[in-house]
Amino acid sequence: MRVFVTGATGFIGSYLVPQLIKAGHQVVGLSRSDKGAEALTRAGAEVFRGDLGDLDGLHAAAQMADGVIHAAFNHDFSRLKEHSEEDRKVIDALGAALVGSDKPLLVSSGTGLVDRTKINGPATERDVPVSSADFPRAATEEAADAVAAKGVRIIVVRLSQVHDTAHQGRLSQHVKLAREKGYVAYVDKGENRLSAVHVSDVALLYRLALEQGTAGARYHAVAEEGVPMREIAEVLAERLSLPVRSITPAETEDYFGWIAGLATIDLAASSALTRQELGWNPSGPGLLTDLREMGSGVA
Ligand SMILES: NC(=O)c1ccc[n+]([C@@H]2O[C@H](COP(=O)([O-])OP(=O)(O)OC[C@H]3O[C@@H](n4cnc5c(N)ncnc54)[C@H](OP(=O)(O)O)[C@@H]3O)[C@@H](O)[C@H]2O)c1
Repeated sequence: MRVFVTGATGFIGSYLVPQLIKAGHQVVGLSRSDKGAEALTRAGAEVFRGDLGDLDGLHAAAQMADGVIHAAFNHDFSRLKEHSEEDRKVIDALGAALVGSDKPLLVSSGTGLVDRTKINGPATERDVPVSSADFPRAATEEAADAVAAKGVRIIVVRLSQVHDTAHQGRLSQHVKLAREKGYVAYVDKGENRLSAVHVSDVALLYRLALEQGTAGARYHAVAEEGVPMREIAEVLAERLSLPVRSITPAETEDYFGWIAGLATIDLAASSALTRQELGWNPSGPGLLTDLREMGSGVA
C-alpha cells in the first residue's frame, strides 16, 4: 500500500516508517524541514514537503495515497486550543480526499481523553471522549466522527503514555520537577495509574489497524493497563538518586504546577478489544524498565 504519513519525522513516526516499509508498504512522509526530509530518505521513504497549515497540499498528498496515517501534532501546549483546532482542519482535509473510497485514514488521539466521569474502571475502546469545549485536544475525535459521517473509513488510534529509553512524554516533566525540588513526589498513596506502551508496539498497532482496521473503530495502544504513580516515582527517584516522598492533595498544586491535574487522575486504560480484533500482542519493554534505563541526558 502507498501510505501518506504525517508526523513521519516524530518520535512515533521514526518507528512507524521502518515498520511500514519492512512490511512491504511504500511510505510518503510529510516533512517541513531539510533535516526531516533527509531522515525520511535515509529510512527509505519518499518525502512530501509541507506543513500542517497547507491544507491543499495535505489533501493532494492524501489523494495520491492508498491510505493515510495522521500522526503529526504541534505539541506547544501553551497554544493547545489553536493546534487542536488546526488538527480538526487537517483531518477534515485528509478525509475529504478519501471520500468515496474505501481507503483508510488513521488519526491519533489519547486514552487520556476518555470522559472519566462516565466510566468506572479502565477506559475502553467503547468509551466516549470528553468534549473539545472541556479539553481542546478532543477536537481530533470530533473531527474523526464528522469525517466518518461522510463515509470515510476513518480509524482512531488512542495512545497511552508512549515510551522508550529516550522519551517519557509527560514523565519528563516529573523528572524536571524532581530536579528542581530535590525530591520525587507522588500524591497520597500514589495508587492512581498511568497506562503505557512501548513505541515499537505502537508502530505495530498502527500498521495492523491500517491493514485490517474496521471503519469507525477506536483502538487502544495500551500494553500496561495501569502502572501506579507510586511505583513510577520510586523508579524515578532511584534513577535520579533523589529521595521519594508522598505529598498531600493540598500540596499537589505547589509541587506539580500546570500538570497538577494529571498527577492525581487515574489514567488506567484497557486494550482488550484492540488485541482481540487486530491480534495485536505488545511485547516491548515495560514503562518501569525504560525509566530505569532512561538516557543519561535525562537523568
Ligand atoms: N507520545 C505519546 O506519548 C503520545 C500520547 C498520546 C497521543 N500522542 C499523539 O500521537 C501523535 C504522534 O506523537 P509523537 O510522540 O510522535 O509526537 P512528536 O514526536 O512531537 O512528533 C510530532 C510530529 O508532528 C510534526 N509536526 C508538528 N507540527 C507540524 C507542522 N506544523 N507541520 C508539519 N509537521 C508538523 C513534527 O514534525 P517535525 O519533525 O518537523 O517537528 C513531528 O513529525 C501525536 O498526535 C500525539 O499528540 C502521543
